[in-house]
Amino acid sequence: MTHEAGWAHAPGALRLPSWLREPTDPNELVPLLWSSTTRKVEGDLTVGGVALADLAAEFNTPAYVLDEDDFRARARAFRDAFADYDVYYAGKAFLCTTIARWVAEEGLHLDVCSPGELAVALRAGVDPARIGYHGNNKSHPELRRAVDAGVGRIIVDSFTEIARLAQVATDLGTTTSVMIRVTAGVEAHTHEYIATAHEDQKFGFSITSGDALEAVRRVVAAEGLELLGLHSHIGSQIFDSSGFEVAARRVLALHARVASEVGLTMPEMDLGGGFGIAYTTQDDPSEPAQLAIEMSKIVEHECRALGIEQPRLSIEPGRAIVGPSMCTVYTVGTVKPVALDGGAVRTYVSVDGGMSDNIRTALYDADYSCTLASRVSQAPPMLARVVGMHCEAGDIVVKDEFLPSDLTPGDLLAVPGTGAYCRSMASNYNHALRPPVIAVKDGVARVVVRRETIDDLLATDVGAVDG
Ligand code: LLP
Repeated sequence: MTHEAGWAHAPGALRLPSWLREPTDPNELVPLLWSSTTRKVEGDLTVGGVALADLAAEFNTPAYVLDEDDFRARARAFRDAFADYDVYYAGKAFLCTTIARWVAEEGLHLDVCSPGELAVALRAGVDPARIGYHGNNKSHPELRRAVDAGVGRIIVDSFTEIARLAQVATDLGTTTSVMIRVTAGVEAHTHEYIATAHEDQKFGFSITSGDALEAVRRVVAAEGLELLGLHSHIGSQIFDSSGFEVAARRVLALHARVASEVGLTMPEMDLGGGFGIAYTTQDDPSEPAQLAIEMSKIVEHECRALGIEQPRLSIEPGRAIVGPSMCTVYTVGTVKPVALDGGAVRTYVSVDGGMSDNIRTALYDADYSCTLASRVSQAPPMLARVVGMHCEAGDIVVKDEFLPSDLTPGDLLAVPGTGAYCRSMASNYNHALRPPVIAVKDGVARVVVRRETIDDLLATDVGAVDG
C-alpha cells in the first residue's frame, strides 16, 4: 500500500518552510535561540566561556551543553516576575541532582511526576515540603513513598487515586495536602500530544461533566486529605495567553462554586506550565515579566467579577527555564546530496546522534535550527537536512536549515534549545549510549550527567551478566 508523501518527502523541488529565510551569512547566530552566554568568535561557538570544539575534544560528541548562568537567570526571572506566586520548576523537562540544587538555590519549588524524579530531588537535598507530585497513575507504594517523604502537595488525577491516597495517609497516620487536577476544556494551540486541557484525554477531572466538583467533595470527605486547591495545566509550548484566560476563568468559577456549595475556601490554585520558547525564528515567546502581568490581570479580573478572594497562585514552567539553556553538539559524519524528482537536490548531513537524543522532531514534527560550531566558512549557504545515525528514515534532528555548503565530516554542529524534553526523553534506540550533560560556566566545563557506556547497557541485560 502506498500513502501520501509527508513533509519528509519533498516531491520535486525542495519546499522551504514559510518562515525559513536564506541568511546572507550562515555563520551568524540568531541570539534569541541561544543561551545568553553563547558567542561565536571567529567560527568557534562558545558557551559559558567554553569553546565547543574544546569541549568536544575533551568529552566527545554528541553532548548536551548546559549554560549554568543562563539556567539560573531564567529560573530567577520567573521567581522575580511571579514574586507573589510559588514557582515550581517542572522537572520532567530535564532533571538531575545538579539542576534540582540550582532550582532550590534560586528559590523555586520543584514539580516531579514519577518515583525516579522524586528520588533525584530527594538525593539532591530538595526540601520535600517544596515538592509537588504529579501523575495520572500513581501506585499505592509510590504514593506511600511520597507521603512518607513529606512531599508538600500531591496532585490527584482520578477517583481511584483519591481513595488510594486517603488509604495511604490514614495508614501512615498523617494528613497529606492535595490539589485536584481539573480539565478546563480548552484547546491549546499546540501539538495534539502535548495539549492537555481539552476533554478527550487522560488527565484530570472534567469541570463540565461535574467530575471535578465530585472530586472536591470526595477529597473534603476523606480522612487524611487536606484540599489546597485546583490545578490546571492546559498544554505545552503555548504562546497565546487566551488559552490561559479561558482556563483561569473556568477554574476560578469552580473555585467560587466550591466556596458557595461545599463551604470551603481553598487557599491555593495552580495554573500549570506550558510557556513557549523560540526553537526557530518563527517563534516569538513572551518574557516571564510579561506573562506574569497578563496572568495576574486575568486572575484579578475574574476574582473581582466572582466576588472572591484571590487564592495563592502557583505555576509550573519547565521548558521556558531549561529549554534555551542547553544546546547539543554533534560531529558531522557524512554529507550526502540526494537527487530528488524534478532535479532538486537535498543535502543530508548525518551526525553522531539523532532521535535517541532528540525525539521531538520525529514525535511532534518539531522545528529546530543549527549552526556550524567549529570554524568560519566563506562558502555560500545550502539548504540541508540534519539527520541522525539511527536505522529509521524519520530520524531527523533538523528538518531544514541553511548551512555552509562546504560542510564536511569532522565539522561540529550545534543545535540550540535542546534543554527541555531532549535528554529527559532520550532513549537507547539501536543501543545508542545516551549523551552526557556538561555544565559550563566562566570558562569551566564539568560533567553533571556522564555519558552512558556499553557496560551500562550490558548491566541490565541479565543474560549477558549471568553468562
Ligand atoms: N505541569 C504539568 C502538570 C505538566 O504536565 C507539564 C508538562 C508542565 C507543568 C511543564 O510544561 P512546560 O512548561 O515544560 O511546557 N514532551 C513534550 C512536552 C510534554 C509536556 C508534559 N507536561 C515536548 O517535548 O514538547
